[in-house]
Amino acid sequence: MRPHPTAFTRQVGIEQPIICGAMYPCTNPELVAAVSDAGAIGIVQPVSMTYVYGHDFREGLRSIKRATSRPFGMNALIEQSSKSYRARVEKWVDIALEEGVRFFITSLGNPRWVVEKAAQVGGVVYHDVTERKWAHKAIDGGVHGLIAVNNVAGGHAGRLSPQAILDQLADLGLPVICAGGVGDPATFRRMMDLGYAGVQMGTRFIATTECLAHEDYKQAILAAAPEDIVLTERLTGVPVAVINNEYIRRLGTRAGPLARFMLRHRKLKYWMRSIYALRSARRLKKTSLSAAGANDYWQAGKSVAGIHSVISARQVVEEFAAALD
Ligand SMILES: Cc1cc2nc3c(=O)[nH]c(=O)nc-3n(C[C@H](O)[C@H](O)[C@H](O)COP(=O)(O)O)c2cc1C
Repeated sequence: MRPHPTAFTRQVGIEQPIICGAMYPCTNPELVAAVSDAGAIGIVQPVSMTYVYGHDFREGLRSIKRATSRPFGMNALIEQSSKSYRARVEKWVDIALEEGVRFFITSLGNPRWVVEKAAQVGGVVYHDVTERKWAHKAIDGGVHGLIAVNNVAGGHAGRLSPQAILDQLADLGLPVICAGGVGDPATFRRMMDLGYAGVQMGTRFIATTECLAHEDYKQAILAAAPEDIVLTERLTGVPVAVINNEYIRRLGTRAGPLARFMLRHRKLKYWMRSIYALRSARRLKKTSLSAAGANDYWQAGKSVAGIHSVISARQVVEEFAAALD
């Protein structure tokens, strides 16, 4: 595989401008290691690592280091929701730095404290943004690059198309990564031609042999068409992309009136989000790892359009890299 250097790959020391994005509950350490070993970069999702797959955080990182000597990253969700959560994220960042992790993707909140910690050892921090105003805040916080989460992304989607969000961010002087809608090599090539410094993919990497999600989940991704992907607020309180099935149709896609009221109010919002988060974390863990049941649902983005087989993470990276030759 020929390397395809960009501003992003040079910063983090990898060969292919491809990130396997953090995914709760689909990021297992074996997947992270496989993506990184192939020359792209996998991102650890700390709650997946510990709560879903049962690893001690440091031991989990060490298992990745035993499987590959190449760089991998960590996702830090830095929303200031509670002191105890912040303390937990700080601990994860500290352990990751001690174990040699040098690439962080931050979401929500102000990334400054992560940038400051990482800077002491030459680490690189990218921040998730959905529009220009959040990019300004991230740049004030000192980040080195931006992850542009678009309106076709799996997980929590943004509002703007891949082209529209790049138009808002392109002149800010930082590398911009396209997050969302990339599931096949041709789309990857198109995004790189638009001017992105790399792509972040989630859904494509669920349908790999190294991802420990249940086979039923992987088959649902292969079977789904883009029009089967809907956004629902009923799971986490903010719109999240899922494959429409019997259960989602029963559940509906809008938060109920009480939840909406609570989500609008600053103080109540925290509680409502916590309730949603806890409930959906437990559910997601169960539904992603076990055979399909009547009340199951699966998160995936519209990139399902280009995903037709379960292959190894290395094969994904090779096929995508070849599209840039
Ligand atoms: C099942 C699933 C879970 C996700 N969980 C997270 C997460 O915990 N943290 C995060 O920052 N992004 C999360 N994402 C977003 C991905 O990291 C990535 O940006 C997104 O999947 C890109 O869109 P794609 O699915 O079209 O490739 C998740 C995405 C999926 C599909």
